[in-house]
Amino acid sequence: MAGLLITFEGPDGAGKTSALTELVPRLQQIVRRPIVVTREPGGNPISEAIRQIILDPKNTAMDKRTEALLYAAARRQHIVEKIRPALAADKMVLCDRFVDSSLAYQGAGRDIGVTAVGKMNKFATEQLAPDLTLYLDVPSELGLQRIAAHRQSQNDRLDQEALSFHQKVRGEYLALVKQYPQRIKTIDATQSLEQVIAACQTVITTTYRDWFN
Ligand SMILES: Nc1ncnc2c1ncn2[C@@H]1O[C@H](COP(=O)(O)OP(=O)(O)O)[C@@H](O)[C@H]1O
Ligand SMILES: [Mg+2]
Repeated sequence: MAGLLITFEGPDGAGKTSALTELVPRLQQIVRRPIVVTREPGGNPISEAIRQIILDPKNTAMDKRTEALLYAAARRQHIVEKIRPALAADKMVLCDRFVDSSLAYQGAGRDIGVTAVGKMNKFATEQLAPDLTLYLDVPSELGLQRIAAHRQSQNDRLDQEALSFHQKVRGEYLALVKQYPQRIKTIDATQSLEQVIAACQTVITTTYRDWFN
């Protein structure tokens, strides 16, 4: 059996990072093979360096296509250095954001066009697609409220976007859910974090029973 690529998607403040942090030790107890947890844009030194450029609040001059290309470049390096080797070693890879984020944020949020961003990402990924995507859905207002309430440091460049930007992002995620119902499973992320984690765990363990004890 080859490895599995499971991605976590959703608007800012949906709880992707929080859920993944709690979920991994729980899954690791019952899964038969190693789990690799990683995130975009990042997961290796080159991609993390690109991430810093993208998120730096000083980079107000960044063109939206430049931004989309940087995300794709970071993704490419992440796939080559980390994701493909882990899949080749039959591991379960859990990734915080992937191509769907670019479709939603750059394609729809920045209005570059979902088709154009999709094509550019096919070049970057060489068609590598997730086996399963957990889409953590929250209304934009709630996601932004959560981020504002828990903020400890300065905003990054994307947190500073208007509500309308985040609503376009969510709208595209909902369109992707309709387009890829087999791959993308929606989790109601307005629930408590514990309920969200449990829902994620149930989808993964029931979809891939033979991976678990
Ligand atoms: N289900 C939840 N209910 C309430 N607060 C949550 C929930 N999930 C996450 N949070 C809080 O919202 C903030 C954003 O969560 P985070 O996991 O960073 O979201 P994301 O990675 O999707 O942007 C964090 O401060 C987190 O503690
Ligand atoms: Mg996060």
